[in-house]
Amino acid sequence: MAIEEVIYPYEGNYNITAELPVREDFSWKAIESNFSWSETGKVNMAYECVDRHVADGFGDKVALHYFGEEEEYTLTYRELKEKSDLWATVLKKRGVKKGDFVFVFLSKHPDCHIAMLAAIKLGAVVGPLFEAFMEDAVKERIADCEGTYLIASPELIKRVPRAELPSLQTVWITAEPEQCKGDEISLYAEARAIEAEEDIIEWVDLEHGLNVHYTSGSTGRPKGIIHAHRAMIQQYITGRWVLDLKEDDIYWCTAHPGWVTGTVYGVFAPLLNRATIVIHGGRFNADEWYSVLEKSGVTVWYSAPTAFRMLMAEGDEKLADYDLSKVRHILSVGEPLNPEVIRWGIKALSNRIHDTWWMTETGAQLIVNLPSEKIIPGSMGRPFPGIEAAILDDDGQELPSGEVGHLALKANWPGIMREVWKDPAKYSTYFPFEGWYVSGDLATIDENGYIFFQGRSDDMINSSGERIGPFEVESKLIEHPAVAEVGVIGKPDAVRGEIVKAFIVLRNGYEANDALLQELRQFVRSGLAAHAAPREIEFLDELPKTPISGKILRRELKARELEKVGV
Ligand code: PRX
Repeated sequence: MAIEEVIYPYEGNYNITAELPVREDFSWKAIESNFSWSETGKVNMAYECVDRHVADGFGDKVALHYFGEEEEYTLTYRELKEKSDLWATVLKKRGVKKGDFVFVFLSKHPDCHIAMLAAIKLGAVVGPLFEAFMEDAVKERIADCEGTYLIASPELIKRVPRAELPSLQTVWITAEPEQCKGDEISLYAEARAIEAEEDIIEWVDLEHGLNVHYTSGSTGRPKGIIHAHRAMIQQYITGRWVLDLKEDDIYWCTAHPGWVTGTVYGVFAPLLNRATIVIHGGRFNADEWYSVLEKSGVTVWYSAPTAFRMLMAEGDEKLADYDLSKVRHILSVGEPLNPEVIRWGIKALSNRIHDTWWMTETGAQLIVNLPSEKIIPGSMGRPFPGIEAAILDDDGQELPSGEVGHLALKANWPGIMREVWKDPAKYSTYFPFEGWYVSGDLATIDENGYIFFQGRSDDMINSSGERIGPFEVESKLIEHPAVAEVGVIGKPDAVRGEIVKAFIVLRNGYEANDALLQELRQFVRSGLAAHAAPREIEFLDELPKTPISGKILRRELKARELEKVGV
């Protein structure tokens, strides 16, 4: 592969330069000495994220800096410890114990961080739910785990179909009692009425369940990916070496904790590294984002290609109104990062944008652009120290550089999922060849180990970095009385990477018109989630199908679409 462009590291005092040669001497075992449990034997992610920093004398350092629509405030590490201890006590009093699932349905707000940490302190498995989920998506996840406990805001509880969730027995609302209905409990009032129990932390082992995120593939319902406390080893060291978090860093990860990035690099990694986290409520808005970067003095910023492309589209004139000179390190994840965006980053933000690749299942970054290494625009970077990647053919044989094949990683590493909830058969599909985790992505590798993303080997859709299973969208659409058959694909899009496109055959008696199109889109938007709603719908007389089994051929639909747009 001809490499046309290389961007060398900027002059900088990065963590990794001081620790070279990290690749040759790397061992996961050596990283363990950074945790208090390496001496005490007592493991708990929330303790390492918060309490240990207080014990080490950093209680006054700001942990969270919240920029909401109506208020702005900070919480120190000590305050975060006290609040999460208190909420953990509330949870415990109502029965939460080691191994229980605690779902958290809150928007980007310090309450979300506190609730997650409180559940983890008790050894519960926390299930953060994406704030844009509607009833079906919420129901499916809580029901699959037979979840008993939920912490929600007064706004988001409206999207929880309690009557259809018999397992859900205890619901706390992050509000005062006046805002609670029926058997809902005011978390604020309960927390005021008690004192935090001393030694509230439940010690667990490294393999103990930590959090669950549901993730989509091309077939079937979303699967619950369970991570273990051991993930902290990798989350900490990637936070230090890839995010390059240091003592004085103000760090902003734009993802909501309902997505794995928002949990791992929005909550765990920065707290493990004792950074200050910026939390910004509300939706994307270029002016607001630039103003948060300026006001909070963000130094390290982790976002996604769609967001960068949207900022780029706003024009650079806007940037003249803001002082972003404190930003010293920018990273991206979730979808292919176009070389053009990297060039824009250099010009407009005076920073290289460092791509990172990983998946919900991998629990932490695996392919990265270390701050000290050169970037090849168009490449996702190289394996993190301790990680071995290869491109395999369909039989599991390693392919030479430049050839497209399955992106695979030598199993295992500390962050890798512990299990696919209630689906060991699905778990084994990730390991079709002895010793390799196969990602489902197609890629090439060059002689220096730089990896280039080429697409997916399945029908999974990636829109704005959000992973959408076509089956989930099809299942929702088929519930609509007008829909006889449906196939859903990802259509290439200049801003969002892909958009969801549905091909629909209508039932007799229904007419394809704009009103119906809007109605169908709204049906998915309000039932499942806004990001899953098809941006395009095309009505067809019939769908392409396999001759014998009659399965809808999404691939054929996609090939036709690509031909139309000239890809
Ligand atoms: O296809 C790859 C894409 O996102 C998938 C994982 O999605 P999810 O589990 O939601 O996790 C997203 C963030 C951790 C991958 O299989 N993907 C992720 N990062 C990149 C990417 N595609 C291209 N470039 C990336 N840097």
